[in-house]
Amino acid sequence: MSAYNWIDHKYDVVVVGAGGAGLRAALGAAQAGLKTACVTKVFPTRSHTVAAQGGAAASLGNMGEDSWRWHMYDTVKGSDWLGDQDSIEYLCRHAPDAIYELEHWGMPFSRTEKGQIYQRAFGGMTTNFGEGAAAQRTCAAADRTGHAMLHTLYGQSLRHDVDFFIEHFALDLMMDDEGACRGVTSWQLDNGDLHRFTAQTVILATGGYGRAYFSCTSAHTCTGDGGGMVLRAGLPMQDMEFVQFHPTGIYGAGMLITEGVRGEGGYLVNSEGERFMERYAPSAKDLASRDVVSRAMTLEIREGRGVGERKDHIYLHLDHLDPEMVLKRLPGIAESAEIFAGVDVTKQPIPVLPTCHYNMGGIPTNFHGEVVTKKGKNPDAVVPGLMAVGEAACVSVHGANRLGSNSLTDLVVFGRAAGLRCGETITPGATSRDLPSTEPHLARLDRLRNADGGTPTSELRLNMQRIMQDHCAVFRTGDVLKEGCSAMASASAARDDLKVSDRSMIWNTDLMETLELDNLMGNAMTTIYGAANREESRGAHAREDFPDRDDDKWMQHTLAWFDDKKVKLGDRPVHTFTMTDEVDYIKPKARVY
Ligand code: FUM
Repeated sequence: MSAYNWIDHKYDVVVVGAGGAGLRAALGAAQAGLKTACVTKVFPTRSHTVAAQGGAAASLGNMGEDSWRWHMYDTVKGSDWLGDQDSIEYLCRHAPDAIYELEHWGMPFSRTEKGQIYQRAFGGMTTNFGEGAAAQRTCAAADRTGHAMLHTLYGQSLRHDVDFFIEHFALDLMMDDEGACRGVTSWQLDNGDLHRFTAQTVILATGGYGRAYFSCTSAHTCTGDGGGMVLRAGLPMQDMEFVQFHPTGIYGAGMLITEGVRGEGGYLVNSEGERFMERYAPSAKDLASRDVVSRAMTLEIREGRGVGERKDHIYLHLDHLDPEMVLKRLPGIAESAEIFAGVDVTKQPIPVLPTCHYNMGGIPTNFHGEVVTKKGKNPDAVVPGLMAVGEAACVSVHGANRLGSNSLTDLVVFGRAAGLRCGETITPGATSRDLPSTEPHLARLDRLRNADGGTPTSELRLNMQRIMQDHCAVFRTGDVLKEGCSAMASASAARDDLKVSDRSMIWNTDLMETLELDNLMGNAMTTIYGAANREESRGAHAREDFPDRDDDKWMQHTLAWFDDKKVKLGDRPVHTFTMTDEVDYIKPKARVY
């Protein structure tokens, strides 16, 4: 092995990732008087949160009556009763506080005539416990809400003296013999240095793993790095089989066209010019929950009613809407549609297709952001020193299907919760220097750096992406999943034959992509094996061979471990209790829109 040297740092809290959740957690820890570092592989304002368009759900009631209880009902129903109701209560109760806090920090929300935060309709968001009209609950900054949020949070993090380590690729968690996390290591991309961060708490905020799929709305950086580290630390991931397909990715390009388009009055049509959502969701129509709309679109295409030469996509119309409103409320998608589909949205429909968008599964946590695992009889045992927030985590508020605009809310509510928890549990300056061995981190880095097989990383990555797209997408069946599991097992084993051509340590994107692929593989393996195991349909997991939800057998979280060769599955109970006695547990029922 080549000689490597570590540069050592000591912090109270180290956050990995600088998207909305990571920045909110980092600034919260710093506000609590803790010495806080944020280690990020891209410049903070380039994190994938920047791409979020439509908005963040919170029951502010600026556009009509609203209540956090209605928001909670919609989120539980949207989750198809796989969400933990204590966490969902936490999310919906605290969403308004988290939004007002952003407003006070200067986030440039769109405004109503009265000067309040503008809120639009989004799928599955209703009033009066699903009995009333659509709720206008999604707080928006035009269709660039993530961009506005990320810049606001980065500014505040600097104001609160968070130390940033930018363009650092996190390698692995430092776990001690008692199973506690004591820090994290990183590789500095611009000069090749290696760093060891000792901390009382590491917060993983590394985002999702959309890049395990061939077509996704996620940035190229969304490679499940936190999940990869957690699996290598011998800890499980949760509910990985639940992968959200956003109904409106631009056909061919995968770019997101916000659900806010339908919230502002846009609608989908098939080749017969029919607004087909009326058949699938008579009440909510185009504003049904995402899994419902994606399945309806897929069925229309399968039954020969797709549009275009190959009849393989659907049209999204907003050409009937007031062009002035479109350019004011939806300027970003007007630009994307022109660039990526050559379409003037004020005159022509946008060609769209369901595209992999979000991972409901992730690192299991409680609503404080503490990572949990099953230990003996305790299904909620806290892993000392380790937290996770944002898309990397599974808290679990989204359960089997996330409602659009609950993601940005999740980032700031649980980022804030994690910062508060750090303030309650950490003593400033008490971090020990006594480190677990970091030799295995170096051995892995060195092995991949010198990989000299016959398969380029890009080739294996493409193979994995195609397997996941073809075998584990909107509709699933046992046979196809089984075939996918075996193909993925071979793809995973093919990492032994990887070829990395660049051996340097400075700006070695070949090595970085290989480390990312290694992380993606664990995420993809636990996803497809979990999907093959779950013999029911729930939320985004639609099994054609098991079309019904089976609460007796399957109202439970999947836990999945990956020892780098094989996936092991287990389960953990869904929390069928609320956080307080101010709201009752919402009992399961049929989910119709
Ligand atoms: O459609 C959108 O704007 C996406 C929002 C979300 O995923 O929450």
